[in-house]
Amino acid sequence: MSQSDQPTGMRKGLTNYGDAGFSLFLRKAFIKGAGLTDNALDRPVIGITDTGSGYNPCHGNMPQLLEAVQRGIMLAGGLPVKFPTISIGESFAAPTSMYLRNLMSMDTEEMLKAQPMDAVVLIGGCDKTVPAQLMGAASAGLPAVQLITGSMLTGSHRGETVGACTDCRRYWGRFRAEEIDPQEISDVNNQLVPSVGTCSVMGTASTMACIAEALGMTVPGGASPPAVTSARMRVAEQTGALAVQVAKSRLTIDKVLTEKAFENAMRVLLAIGGSTNAIVHLTAIAGRLGFEVDLQALDRMGRETPVLVDLKPSGQHYMEHFDAAGGMPALLRELKPLLHLDALTVTGRTLGEELECAAPPFKQDVIRPRDNPIYPQGGIAVLRGNLAPGGAIIKQSAADPKLMEHEGRAVVFEGLEDLANRIDSEDLDVRADDILVLKNIGPKGAPGMPEAGYIPLPRKLARQGVKDMVRISDGRMSGTAFGTIVLHVTPESAIGGPLAQVRNGDRIRLSVNQREISLEVSDEELARRAKEQPVREPAAERGYRKLFLATVTQADKGVDFDFLAAPDVRGRVPKA
Ligand code: FES
Repeated sequence: MSQSDQPTGMRKGLTNYGDAGFSLFLRKAFIKGAGLTDNALDRPVIGITDTGSGYNPCHGNMPQLLEAVQRGIMLAGGLPVKFPTISIGESFAAPTSMYLRNLMSMDTEEMLKAQPMDAVVLIGGCDKTVPAQLMGAASAGLPAVQLITGSMLTGSHRGETVGACTDCRRYWGRFRAEEIDPQEISDVNNQLVPSVGTCSVMGTASTMACIAEALGMTVPGGASPPAVTSARMRVAEQTGALAVQVAKSRLTIDKVLTEKAFENAMRVLLAIGGSTNAIVHLTAIAGRLGFEVDLQALDRMGRETPVLVDLKPSGQHYMEHFDAAGGMPALLRELKPLLHLDALTVTGRTLGEELECAAPPFKQDVIRPRDNPIYPQGGIAVLRGNLAPGGAIIKQSAADPKLMEHEGRAVVFEGLEDLANRIDSEDLDVRADDILVLKNIGPKGAPGMPEAGYIPLPRKLARQGVKDMVRISDGRMSGTAFGTIVLHVTPESAIGGPLAQVRNGDRIRLSVNQREISLEVSDEELARRAKEQPVREPAAERGYRKLFLATVTQADKGVDFDFLAAPDVRGRVPKA
């Protein structure tokens, strides 16, 4: 059957009763029960994922967004049908939101495939939701448009602009160091999240919003308007209308998410000083379409991509300032020579064509020109060495330059419980030039690779004014965090990676310049330790945890489930 002969709208994917005519008859009868007419049912059907939840204030504008998207769809002659999927609010999910990302992607994929729709509007925002939706939609293969919920506004604390969550960490660090009192930490708690919407710095949510636009999956300029603005609602209305257009033109997601689109997204990730988490998410999304991410090539790309966006945690501004400075079109214009301008977007036009229509540049100080970057190289560097044969990463743009070439003594924590029990102990044998090592927070370790790689500084050092130390783990960290922090050490300790064999007092060498992370212990000694203390891989008796532990992949494969990636590899990205 050619594509144009395939059933559309309510005729798609009929429920299996053994009689197609009856299936359609029954489906129509039920939806008419909701008050719809035959005229409405003849329109292109546009599904809308409703990811509102009382546990997800980052999606707190969902009712308004749904209304605007539905308006856009109807203005363009389509029939909107909203439906719920899982929603994941970052700070409300235990053990970590990442544990549920793949579940949300499966929910999204299966609902897109099971229910009749010609295109879908994916509404996501909080950290793991946009990656989960793009992973699911990539596997479902429908025409799809991504709508971002938008960032929260900034607050003000005693005359200082504050926003989640770089400032959450900064103030908490000051509280731990006893620089501020309980009253002040309580006061600032009221100011850090002054509205609904996603975190206001260049954390994972903002990074994934920018990446979704760089991939060509949103309306132009759709990444940055804050959640509570009229601009965000207009983006929502435009998204609805665009979804009808992609349904009619049958612009399936695989035509947009190409190698070139992924390369553009990686370029943007590096230029915005974006969240390290985005590498894992991009790897998983690309994997759904048969593309492997080449971390070495990404590192080479990083060496020639300056950080241009001056947002926390790498810089000083917030998402609302990025939006006021022109948002993604302004950044993409600055990056033009480094982008594939012929990459197709959901508008049906190429990225280059869209940039031709973008508003003209104006004077601002948030998105820098390439000859005046805030950091000369890309925000993220890829490390290798005997401690991380499968790679590790560091967000160099948010690290202390003085620690990027450093050798020190390992102070080892065997897991999160051990960390919680000892990090603030006055008896902890630790100095400012030591290297903190945290094991068992990788994909299988915790499980779910929690954002615990931002190991808090030992209280006794914090009190002495220590602001940063080299920290190493197989986990992730929030995109809003800062410090000289080596993450995603692969393979992880819970499956017997070299990290499992590190002991107190071992020497570790970090050289960001050489892209190296080395344990100064011989192979023979490591083998002896592995034999002496063999690792037992985590497993579970039942349920989602059993599926997770049995099938989750390592960071270099996107922490996706092995059976969800495309069966065949079509290529590697980036090609640089
Ligand atoms: Fe939802 Fe930060 S907690 S985006």
